[in-house]
Amino acid sequence: MPSSETTETTETTEIDWDALRSAARQAAQHAYCPYSGLQVGAAALCDDGRTVDGCNVENASYGLGLCAECTMAGQLRRTGGGRFVAVACRSGAGELLMPCGRCRQVLYELGGPDCLVDTPRGILPMSEVLPDAFGPEFLPAH
Ligand code: THU
Repeated sequence: MPSSETTETTETTEIDWDALRSAARQAAQHAYCPYSGLQVGAAALCDDGRTVDGCNVENASYGLGLCAECTMAGQLRRTGGGRFVAVACRSGAGELLMPCGRCRQVLYELGGPDCLVDTPRGILPMSEVLPDAFGPEFLPAH
């Protein structure tokens, strides 16, 4: 397993993981987190080569807070759609953070099982970050 500090290559795209980690940390600077105090940033390489990012946006009604990955999903759609190819999440201090369970499902929807994630165990595909995932194939045809 390659270390989380290496540069990975997918079929067609060179992934600059350090740039993604840096983008995630920068996005975290924009967090609105008066309740938890944890700035979270997410950044993703998309299948057309652009990068999108997001930060957490908390709410006085605690359960309504938005995770960084969720605002990033909005940014993906807002800036042209496409798919997540590689994702990194960082705190404002630069620590690696893993997407929470709900966010893994959100990432899976827009990146699928092959989307790569920066984890403490190295770069892993979503198929390992969210094994046996629920996906559209379980829905009745419409
Ligand atoms: N948070 C995220 O933004 N993404 C995650 O995957 C985990 C948690 C945020 C939510 C909340 O604003 C803060 O981190 C503390 O839980």
